[in-house]
Amino acid sequence: MKGLVLSGGTGSRLRPITFSMAKQLVPVANKPILFYGLGDLAEAGVTDVAIIIAPQTGDEIRHAVGDGSRFGLNIEYVVQAEPLGLAHALKTALPFIDGDDVLMYLGDNLVKHGVADVVADFESDRPNCQILLTEVEDPTQFGVAELSSGGEVERLVEKPSNPRSNLALVGVYLFDQTVAEAVNAIEPSARGELEITDAIQYLVTTGRRVRPSLVTGWWKDTGRKEDLLHANVLVLSDLDGRLDGEVVGGEVRGNVQLGAGSQLVDCSVTGPVAIGRNARLVRTTVGPNTAIGDDCRLVDARVESSIILNGSEIHGWSLRDSLVGRGSSLRGGAPANYAEVTLGERCEVVGE
Ligand code: TTP
Repeated sequence: MKGLVLSGGTGSRLRPITFSMAKQLVPVANKPILFYGLGDLAEAGVTDVAIIIAPQTGDEIRHAVGDGSRFGLNIEYVVQAEPLGLAHALKTALPFIDGDDVLMYLGDNLVKHGVADVVADFESDRPNCQILLTEVEDPTQFGVAELSSGGEVERLVEKPSNPRSNLALVGVYLFDQTVAEAVNAIEPSARGELEITDAIQYLVTTGRRVRPSLVTGWWKDTGRKEDLLHANVLVLSDLDGRLDGEVVGGEVRGNVQLGAGSQLVDCSVTGPVAIGRNARLVRTTVGPNTAIGDDCRLVDARVESSIILNGSEIHGWSLRDSLVGRGSSLRGGAPANYAEVTLGERCEVVGE
């Protein structure tokens, strides 16, 4: 089985951070989202992997991931000239798939228990397609599957306005070689994309066996800031504490990771919290549910339930539910209360 990881797209819902970086490289608990999926493929024994990249962000992804050897994978890259849909990405990668089975994994998705079980299921049961489903509160935001009373997939609908099911498709799909026929047969949808739901619907309609399975544990699509912050909470809840940096005074409670070369001076940290390398925090209160990247500088600050990317500086501000892009800074007279901010890369906020 080949692996296909989709890391093209535009990431418009995560602007401004995606104006300057690929959304799949935004960190969750200080690790790029994409790396979790690559780890899942390696764990499932799917080692020949292509990553779909966009012309705009592809180089950054190639640079971050390389040839895959550090994940135990052989990785190649397939450029999708335009983000014309998930099924279009798969169609673009047909020469790489070359008639093999394929596991397609959306590069901005996180699946708690990985994909090893579903790969084993697919390989022993040999359906034409296997989809993963999970119950969601608002199905209008997702591709949704309607099942028969016998549990068979009857219909797939992309972002239905009147959903008849609350079972959303998780961003992991397994196909045998019949998927080539499906992606070649379908037409662009009203929004101009080749929809993966239409490709799977084609398989259902032409009598192929599409097997649904419910995911155990959480699944997160990190397309929006709220989802990203929630993913951060979920991943951090499994964090193992480890202090490789230096703690001078203050207090550290709960599971806290402090990277090598980092310093906490008179800080109060309540885990789960991940702090990268070579960061320096002084008289700062951090946590819970917070990730602070490498080389950050925080002085007299408070940060909770937030993601702060590498090289950012916060002086005197209190942040909650915030996303601060690489190399950004907040300083000057800060609001008295917690602020919720979303900053792109190298932004400067100076309070009055
Ligand atoms: P989406 O989140 O559906 O699309 P997007 O990245 O364009 O985001 P937005 O809606 O905020 O503009 O994509 C899911 C994953 O699939 C994501 O990792 C990007 C990737 N993708 C492609 O590789 N090619 C595509 O044509 C599309 C639509 C998405």
